[in-house]
Amino acid sequence: MKVSSIILAAGKGTRMKSAYPKVLHKICGRPLLQYAVDAVTALGVEQPVVVVGHGADVVRSTLGDQVLYAEQEQQLGTGHAVLSAQIAIPEDADLVLVTSGDMPLFTPETLKALLETQIRNSGPMTILTVVAIDPRGFGRIVRGVDGSVQAIVEEAQASPEILAIRELNVGAYCFQARWLWDALRRIPLSPKGEYYLTDVVGLAVADGQRVEAIAVQDERETMGINTRIHLAEAEAVMRRRIMEKLMLDGVTVINPDSTYVEIGVQIGQDTILQPNTFIYGKTLIGENCIIGPNTIITDCQVGNDCVILAAVMEKAVVEDGVDMGPFARLRKGAHLGPHVHMGNFGEVKDSYLGAGTKMGHFSYIGNATIGKDVNIGAGTITCNYDGEHKHPTVIGDEVFIGSDTMLVAPLNLGDKARTGAGAVVTHDVKPGEVVVGVPARPIRKKENVE
Ligand code: UD1
Ligand code: CA
Repeated sequence: MKVSSIILAAGKGTRMKSAYPKVLHKICGRPLLQYAVDAVTALGVEQPVVVVGHGADVVRSTLGDQVLYAEQEQQLGTGHAVLSAQIAIPEDADLVLVTSGDMPLFTPETLKALLETQIRNSGPMTILTVVAIDPRGFGRIVRGVDGSVQAIVEEAQASPEILAIRELNVGAYCFQARWLWDALRRIPLSPKGEYYLTDVVGLAVADGQRVEAIAVQDERETMGINTRIHLAEAEAVMRRRIMEKLMLDGVTVINPDSTYVEIGVQIGQDTILQPNTFIYGKTLIGENCIIGPNTIITDCQVGNDCVILAAVMEKAVVEDGVDMGPFARLRKGAHLGPHVHMGNFGEVKDSYLGAGTKMGHFSYIGNATIGKDVNIGAGTITCNYDGEHKHPTVIGDEVFIGSDTMLVAPLNLGDKARTGAGAVVTHDVKPGEVVVGVPARPIRKKENVE
């Protein structure tokens, strides 16, 4: 059986009051449409066809070639949108699954149940419904006295009796392909001037065909996004799902309601997420770490056994056993080797700190390569920028940088070199050499003075 799929995403989403297409708004770091694509793709059906219209270019550039596209130039309704996709569907398709890009919470299991019901169904279509107290503007499912589905009536067209119905159309359907293409051409124009996909239900019934319906058990899956209020509600549902998956996989989350982890983030077993922690983007965190409270991590790689308290870090790498914070900041290209200690009020950018190096207090390290077991005294600054260019600083192993040292780059400090407190270092320092003063000059070591 050949199953194709169509995801509707051409609408403007007027109720979002946005310059961006509705389906590109994000929950938990991923566009709504991407969730819809992922749920369909998980079924292993033909590559989905996404119907684009409003903001077509930006939708295409966001999703790339993971899907096929069909253009709906004028948004004449959901029925018209499905018809616009026919051209991209193989002629020998048996079934067509239709979902929409503004429904991000369907699980693959739910869509699979829809598909399997239609595979067993001899009639032309199966719809997904939900029984809910809040109708959210959804179409109402009208059933006959024998319980069979007779029609879907849109809220704007519904009489008071129909408005009172609490079985709703969630907007996911599976059709016999051949029947669908014919029925779409027979949809009457609605009073609002649109061709409603939902009207094919009435057409099937008029043809003497039975319409199958299955109900979604978990109402939260059926949340469609029409406003930014819905967006926040869906975000909360997705956030909870992400948290529950992490917890079931062995991560301790002290307070899931104040912890924000975007979809796709990976976290190892026995790591503890403290409250008010935000983990975004392509982030990978190892096992047995303590993250937070009050930490923001974006696109970072963190090893095992790290403690990261009240830190802000992005596009950085932190190896095993690092402890950081409070109030530490890693910027793009920061790389802390194993067991680095980075205390309060430090910033590292585009730099490598070797294993066991300590940077306890108030330092800025930029464009530097630092060896093992270096002591970076309080207030050390790499003066890496001359107003036009960035310059590198290279520091060897076991170097001791005295408090408040200014390292005026480009600069090289050999292994075991030392600087005095307050030194302004403008020239390279040889291995084992001690420099002091402003500008810093070598002093002979005590043993040599005697
Ligand atoms: C639709 C259903 C309604 C259902 C609800 C569930 C219709 C007529 N109504 O209403 O019964 O309860 O979904 O969420 O289908 N779109 C296009 N081209 C168009 C119009 C819409 O691609 O010309 C896309 C939109 O981008 C959106 C989807 O179709 O992704 C649904 O459209 P929307 O306007 O949100 O329909 P609802 O009013 O929510
Ligand atoms: Ca909608």
